Amino acid sequence: MKPVKVGVLGLGTVGGGTVNVLKRNAAEIARRAGREIVVTRASTRDLERSRICDTQGIALTADPYEIVNDPEIEIVVELIGGETIAKDLVLKAIENGKHVVTANKALIALHGNEIFAKASGKGVMVAFEAAVAGGIPIIKAIREGLSGNQIEWVAGIINGTGNFILTEMRDKGRDFADVLAEAQALGYAEADPTFDVEGIDAAHKLTILASIAFGIPLQFDKVYTEGITQITRDDVDYADTLGYRIKHLGIARKTSEGIELRVHPTLIPARRLIANVDGVMNAVLVKGDAVGPTLYYGAGAGAEPTASSVVADVIDVVRALTSDPENRVPHLAFQPNALADIPM
Ligand code: NDP
Ligand code: HSE
Repeated sequence: MKPVKVGVLGLGTVGGGTVNVLKRNAAEIARRAGREIVVTRASTRDLERSRICDTQGIALTADPYEIVNDPEIEIVVELIGGETIAKDLVLKAIENGKHVVTANKALIALHGNEIFAKASGKGVMVAFEAAVAGGIPIIKAIREGLSGNQIEWVAGIINGTGNFILTEMRDKGRDFADVLAEAQALGYAEADPTFDVEGIDAAHKLTILASIAFGIPLQFDKVYTEGITQITRDDVDYADTLGYRIKHLGIARKTSEGIELRVHPTLIPARRLIANVDGVMNAVLVKGDAVGPTLYYGAGAGAEPTASSVVADVIDVVRALTSDPENRVPHLAFQPNALADIPM
C-alpha cells in the first residue's frame, strides 16, 4: 500500500515535535497504523526550521494554502494556532476532502460546531486529542474507555503554564512574571500568554471536555472564567501553612439544572493526589457512574508530549481510512447532542 501523505501547517513548538516523532518512530507507527505515514510537505515562514526539527525530505513552503490545496495530501495537521488563518485553512482542507488533525483548542472551542458540521457533510474526520491536556489522552479516555458510563463530573488542572507558575511561586518563591517568561521560553505558553494566566485557555479546553463528556454542543460563552493573575506569593504561602495548595482547576459538573462549567483557582487539601501535580504536568479527574472516580496524569504542554497526542490522532485517522466510511466518522468527529443546552 502507498504511504499516507501528511502536510503539517506550522513548524513551531508542536509542529517541530510532531515532525520529529513521526520520523523517529516511523517503523512502529507504520506497524500500528497499518500503513507508512510520511510528512511530505510543511509550511513555515522560517526556512531555518531545520534547527528545531528534521525537515530532510519535507518540501517546505511559506504558503500553507499550497498544502491544503495539494491533491496528494490526505491528512492536514494544523499547528499554527489561533482562530483566523487556522480556521480558514481547516475549512479549506475539509472542503478539499482532507482529514484534519489539530492541537488548536481555541479553534475547536469557538468554531468546532461549524467545523464538525462541515466535516460531517464532506465525510472527513477531524481529530483534536492534543487540544486538551497536551500529552494526556483524555479525549480518548472519556470517549472510548469510559463510553459505558454516565459522566457525573470532570475536574482538572488543564493549563501547564499556569500550574508551572503556581508551583514555582510556592516551591522557589519566584515572581509570577519571571516564571511566565520561562514558560514562554520553554514553548509552554500560548502565543498570547494572557490566555494561559487569565484562564481562557483552560476555558477552551473545558468547553471541549464538557462536550465530549456530556454530549453537549461547544458553548465557550457559558464557562465562568477566572485566571491566576490575582494570586500572590503570600496567598500561596498562607495556603501552604493551612495545609492546602492553590491549583487552577477547570470543572464541568452535571447538576439538576444543567451542566455547570467553571475555571478558577481552588484551595485543595495538600493530601489529595491532584494537589501534588506540579510544574507543567496536568491531571484530569473524571467521575463516571459505573467506574467511579478516575485520574489521568501527564505533561500538559511541550513539544513532544503534545506531539504524542497529535501523532496518535494521525494514526487513528489512518486506521479509520481502511475501515468502512459509513462507520468511521462517529469514532473521531464530534457528535453534538442537540437536546442539551447549558442553562446559565
Ligand atoms: P508556535 O508559536 O510555537 O508555532 C506556531 C507556528 O505557526 C509558528 O511557528 C509559525 O510557524 C506558524 N504560524 C504562525 N502564524 C502564522 C501565520 N499567520 N501564517 C502561517 N504560519 C503561521 O505555537 P505552538 O506550536 O506552541 O502551538 C501550535 C498549536 O498547538 C496552538 O493551537 C496551541 O494552542 C496548540 N498547543 C500547544 C501546546 C504547547 O505546548 N506549545 C500544547 C498543546 C496545544 P513558522 O514560524 O514555521 O512559520
Ligand atoms: N499553553 C498551554 C498550556 C499549552 O500551558 O497548557 C497546552 O495546551
